[in-house]
Amino acid sequence: MDIAVVYYSLEGHTDFIARKIWEQTGAVPIRLFPKKEFPNDGFKKYFWCGKSSMFHEKPELSNEPLQLDTYDTIVVGTPTWAGSMTSPIRSFLAKENLKGKQVYLFACNSGGKDDKCFAQMSKYLEDNTLKGWASFNQPTEENFETMKGEFDRFCEAIQAGKQYP
Ligand SMILES: Cc1cc2nc3c(=O)[nH]c(=O)nc-3n(C[C@H](O)[C@H](O)[C@H](O)COP(=O)(O)O)c2cc1C
Repeated sequence: MDIAVVYYSLEGHTDFIARKIWEQTGAVPIRLFPKKEFPNDGFKKYFWCGKSSMFHEKPELSNEPLQLDTYDTIVVGTPTWAGSMTSPIRSFLAKENLKGKQVYLFACNSGGKDDKCFAQMSKYLEDNTLKGWASFNQPTEENFETMKGEFDRFCEAIQAGKQYP
């Protein structure tokens, strides 16, 4: 199966999981970059990123359109912003034609719940087979062991094309 991991990451945690998925499954990582990157410091970060997410903005991406025809499975990864998906991921889901593909979702958070985030993402995926989703709390090399069980099960499902969990 040809699998791509399409993701956005501001601070590196989602990038960390995307790379781990690549190592474990061979899925091709495709990182999205907004034409105008968000600030990554203090108050500005929370203000601009939070506003963009809450107002459902769809910023232009520097790497669209993506060439996804050859992939039958897409794993979409996002940080959680204000309980929802990030706006670059909203741009991707709104613009790319993912019709007919199997889709898995994952979110990186700082301990909050991702139900709303996944529910909002699902709305863009009504023509897809949504196979499941997983959440990871601030993953880093140091704490990865604590979530490795869930991560492995998620990757096994992706490789087998099975529902998760
Ligand atoms: C603007 C903003 C809003 C956030 N909102 C939430 C939230 O609602 N719930 C949560 O658990 N974490 C929240 N976070 C924390 C991030 O989801 C978390 O740090 C994530 O791992 C970042 O991923 P990244 O390193 O790939 O950018 C927020 C972070 C930012 C910058």
